[in-house]
Amino acid sequence: MSFSTFSKSLPPSLSLAGRTALITGASSGIGRQTALHLARVGASIFCADLRPEPIDDRPAPKAGATEPLGSPARQGSRHVPTHELINRLGGKAEFQKLDVRNEVDFKKSMASAVELGNGRLDVMINNAGITSFSGGIEGESLDILDRMLAVNVKGLYIGTQLAIRQMMKQEPLAFPADLEEDLDANEEEDISSQPRSRPPFSEEQGPPATVGRLPGDKGGRGSRGNIVNIASIHGLIGGPGEPAYCASKGAVINLTRQVACDYAKHRINVNAICPGYLDTAMTVNIPEEISKQRPTYWPHRGSARDVAKSVMWVVPSLHLLLWAAKPAADTASSSSSLHAAGRNRYFARDAPWSTGTILALDGGTTAR
Ligand SMILES: NC(=O)c1ccc[n+]([C@@H]2O[C@H](COP(=O)([O-])OP(=O)(O)OC[C@H]3O[C@@H](n4cnc5c(N)ncnc54)[C@H](O)[C@@H]3O)[C@@H](O)[C@H]2O)c1
Repeated sequence: MSFSTFSKSLPPSLSLAGRTALITGASSGIGRQTALHLARVGASIFCADLRPEPIDDRPAPKAGATEPLGSPARQGSRHVPTHELINRLGGKAEFQKLDVRNEVDFKKSMASAVELGNGRLDVMINNAGITSFSGGIEGESLDILDRMLAVNVKGLYIGTQLAIRQMMKQEPLAFPADLEEDLDANEEEDISSQPRSRPPFSEEQGPPATVGRLPGDKGGRGSRGNIVNIASIHGLIGGPGEPAYCASKGAVINLTRQVACDYAKHRINVNAICPGYLDTAMTVNIPEEISKQRPTYWPHRGSARDVAKSVMWVVPSLHLLLWAAKPAADTASSSSSLHAAGRNRYFARDAPWSTGTILALDGGTTAR
């Protein structure tokens, strides 16, 4: 099923049709998987990266080994640039070369993304990042610190600043959760299917009958846009052998909180995801002794796909997907559009009130 057919089969609270996302570092790893997942549910994706081709995420061959041409990991679509793959699969995407450290080029990318979105940017995903494993601060050069801060902090700072400037020009868009009555306000027989909706409200219509509106809250409910910063658990805990990286990711986390506080009143959602130990190009060749010091309590390490799924989860006003492994027969009362989404049953609910959230996604690493 093409991406466009799939997104059209989704109920409104699952679909991102008509929304546009700018993703930095979209060619590889987390950025690439996030781009593909958002495109599949209908978003137009503006991919920005140093180059369009994905970085090879296979371990470096052992000394002396010769790699056969066309080895399995490079077959299929894994080598196809993200934007090309999305377009081939029936979605909509563009690529622009961008070094996130370059403010002038970043402004051009933002302008192009807004053009792709017909005047809006709904989602900004600040994902581009680099790391360096040195072994400890005593031997780590200041050059590494400068590089880490330039990409992981300054690049993300510029992306956030430009996204905020754009989003402040946009009106909030209401999403399904903004328009729902509480479930217990419904007749009992309605609760198992569609919650009853309340009409959208606006400044002209006056305050809504529902509770929760604060003094000074103007305009309709909804969000002007969502910013997701890809931080790391190494902004929350000390990671072995990465002092400059840990410093940079700690900065990302508190910048996320700070901007979330300032722009909550303007209805802009700002959240961060802190992935744990994943297998991506960034980490595939870390030294064995450091690898041993990176525990994941879940029985396997995470993947870029796991993080992409959590972006779908943390971004408010998109949707929260809870997959219930129930056979379709159990869900006979569900709406036909939910059935159209496939054999599996999805329950969708937006989370428009989520901002300043720092979500660890780490197989339990930071739980201990
Ligand atoms: N892999 C992990 O274990 C892990 C864990 C926690 C957090 N993260 C974070 O997730 C993000 C993505 O990492 P990944 O694992 O997907 O890495 P990756 O190396 O697979 O992908 C990173 C992408 O960012 C791009 N990039 C690097 N510098 C850039 C720059 N200056 N301008 C524009 N693009 C640039 C690269 O070209 C690449 O496509 C990073 O911010 C990283 O710190 C990764």
